[in-house]
Amino acid sequence: MVTIALAKGRLMEEAIDVLEAAGVDCGQLKEPSRKLIFFTPDQQIRIILVKPSDVPTYVEYGIADVGIVGKDTLLEEGRLLYEMLDLKFGQCRLVVAGFPEKQDSWITRSHTRVATKYPNIARNYFSRKGKAVEIIKLNGSVELAPLTGLSDVIVDIVESGRTLKENGLVILEEICSISARLVVNRVSLKMKNREIKALIDNIQMVLEERKDGEVN
Ligand code: PRP
Repeated sequence: MVTIALAKGRLMEEAIDVLEAAGVDCGQLKEPSRKLIFFTPDQQIRIILVKPSDVPTYVEYGIADVGIVGKDTLLEEGRLLYEMLDLKFGQCRLVVAGFPEKQDSWITRSHTRVATKYPNIARNYFSRKGKAVEIIKLNGSVELAPLTGLSDVIVDIVESGRTLKENGLVILEEICSISARLVVNRVSLKMKNREIKALIDNIQMVLEERKDGEVN
């Protein structure tokens, strides 16, 4: 049996779509329920529903063989995993954002406060740039931080750009592009190679069909 950890939240619906298209019966997950563990009818696959930031932990410890999670979470958590596939959904950007008038001035400020749900990503990004900043970890509604004076800028994900726009903020710098990834436990890839490879091959076929669909 292969266990797949799915990130609950914004990636879940599309992750289920991809798995179903790849032949994994996810029917039970579509019914309203508070259950956290599901089995496919043939009992070959177990799906566990996990908070996004915990997916890499479940996969690194081998509780889950496979995980579907955003690249932002992978970068932040820095776990030892194999990243096998870019699933191409959940596309967004990791950015530094702030007030438009900060565009020129923030970079030269001696003491810059950065609010973020991604302290490790932010710390690495600014240390690579040689800029000393104070990181303030938040758990959500990060855009509120510059609006209320808690921070000068934020490091956050931008999808449609609507949250920034409606709060009078702009992108100051782009850090990287983000999308959902399929990750695999390092031991599972050896021990359950046949099952995991079959799953990856099927998902890869779905991704290729989708790409062809876009071109035509
Ligand atoms: C994320 C992110 C931004 C917003 C970006 O927050 O932290 O706030 O979505 O999306 P947009 O560019 O399409 O507006 P999320 O919705 O996950 O909620 P949170 O603030 O509670 O973390």
